[in-house]
Amino acid sequence: MAGLYPLLELYGLQLLRYQEQMLHWPEQPVNIITKWLKDHSPSLVVADFGCGDARLARSVKNKVWSLDLVANDPSVIACDMSNTPLESSSVDVAVFCLSLMGTNYSSFLREALRVLKPRGWLLIAEVKSRLDPNTGGADPNKFLKAICELGFTMESKDFSNKMFVLFYLKKKVRFDALFLYDSSMTLRKMR
Ligand SMILES: C[S@@+](CC[C@H](N)C(=O)[O-])C[C@H]1O[C@@H](n2cnc3c(N)ncnc32)[C@H](O)[C@@H]1O
Repeated sequence: MAGLYPLLELYGLQLLRYQEQMLHWPEQPVNIITKWLKDHSPSLVVADFGCGDARLARSVKNKVWSLDLVANDPSVIACDMSNTPLESSSVDVAVFCLSLMGTNYSSFLREALRVLKPRGWLLIAEVKSRLDPNTGGADPNKFLKAICELGFTMESKDFSNKMFVLFYLKKKVRFDALFLYDSSMTLRKMR
């Protein structure tokens, strides 16, 4: 456990630096996601991956599971985003607000895929420069292709903000079972 403390301290410092930077942004991505949720049903269950200070949970009526490595607030579940205690297929909206980009982002998305219900939403907000090959960032098309290959479909993209981009995806419905009509025209599960 002793080795974990410097790591947690580092995350705390990173969060403080990030919050200071955000203060200078004309618009916060978490506000756009809050508005999106308010435009949809309050019955949607949300998982906020890398929630920071859990502002999203405080801003909407929805049930929000706030998840972060660092839990400064008792409402935040302290966990790694790649291994959360949430039940499979229990969540309608998975949010990654400035918390996805990292070497193991596919493990975070696999976890989101696990906890999302079929056709559940995946909302991603990310710093624009991180998805701009001209500034050393990733190629947004390759990034989105990799996400879709994990099991999501693209619904819409928003590049209108100067500081961040927003992606709206949905979990693909998988047809694991094959249903066929038999000779008496009864629908039967074949596998
Ligand atoms: C830039 S902050 C974004 C906070 C919040 N989503 C917002 O928009 O205000 C990124 C957050 O992701 C968290 N984070 C980074 N890696 C994580 C991991 N593996 N598991 C859980 N949280 C993680 C950090 O602790 C930090 O709070």
